[in-house]
Amino acid sequence: MRHLLEIDDLTVDELHRVLDLATDPSPPRVLEGRGMALVFEKPSARTRNSMEMAVFQLGGHPMYIQASEVGMDVRESVEDVTRTLACYHGCIGARVFAHATVERMAGEGLVPVVNMLSDEAHPLQALADILTLHQEFGDLAGRTLAYVGDGNNVFRSVALAAGMLGAEVRFAGPIGYRLPDTDRQRLVESDVNIIEFDRAADAVDGADAVYTDVWTSMGQEDEAAQRHRDFENFRVDEALMEAAGPKAIFLHCLPAHRGEEVTDGVVDGPASRVWPQAANRMNAARGLLAWLLGEVVDGGSGT
Ligand code: CP
Ligand code: NVA
Repeated sequence: MRHLLEIDDLTVDELHRVLDLATDPSPPRVLEGRGMALVFEKPSARTRNSMEMAVFQLGGHPMYIQASEVGMDVRESVEDVTRTLACYHGCIGARVFAHATVERMAGEGLVPVVNMLSDEAHPLQALADILTLHQEFGDLAGRTLAYVGDGNNVFRSVALAAGMLGAEVRFAGPIGYRLPDTDRQRLVESDVNIIEFDRAADAVDGADAVYTDVWTSMGQEDEAAQRHRDFENFRVDEALMEAAGPKAIFLHCLPAHRGEEVTDGVVDGPASRVWPQAANRMNAARGLLAWLLGEVVDGGSGT
């Protein structure tokens, strides 16, 4: 049984295959007559909508479930919720606070589990990110992605994805918000090396793409005031995009907190690709599910 809990659950070849399927003009109806449970512990605009539409386009029935409704570890255990959902659905997606929750779901080994964002990873976002970069630049080998801000779930996943496809990955963020050594080791295991900078302007110099995410992720609201102070020098504004160079594009997973990690002028400016990137969430999700359910599960190449 295969799952997508983090990008390195895929090999480089599988990443390429998912990207190919993401732009397949005739999506295979791999979910015909089947459902996909989409469980959310946190709010979502892009992930819920893109997943529901991707499931629909593959012939399946998406079922949105608020975690509070099924009461994971409240009404019954995460394991019993998973066993129940697997009675009706060919796949389970979950957006959770603790990454361990998606690991526990996957550990049941009943149906493929897709991480729709945890405190550690956002692999579906990373698939859309590399699809957007691929559409812009073609082969990512030799391209440079500079991420400015919090070394969070979005950064971990996009660093893995872009790095696995051969891009140089740079990071600039305050001390205390960088990836711990354990994460860096995991990246090294996928041949991904992150180059860290103290100053945002140095990280973006000559980069092909500049990426940022919110300073305060869902679940960290109590830290917002401190984070605003700590991240003040890591805002992506027009001056930083100028430091990157005239060809650099701007990416953001969204939602953007305009005026905090990014200015209106950048989000709405000529370098911004945030809307194609958001649109690619549906394409990437469809590619992932077409591969996972059509070629791994039904194709028999799963283990
Ligand atoms: N980028 C992203 O995951 O957006 P949502 O939180 O709206 O799903
Ligand atoms: N890092 C953000 C991403 C939202 C899509 C969060 O976890 O809230």
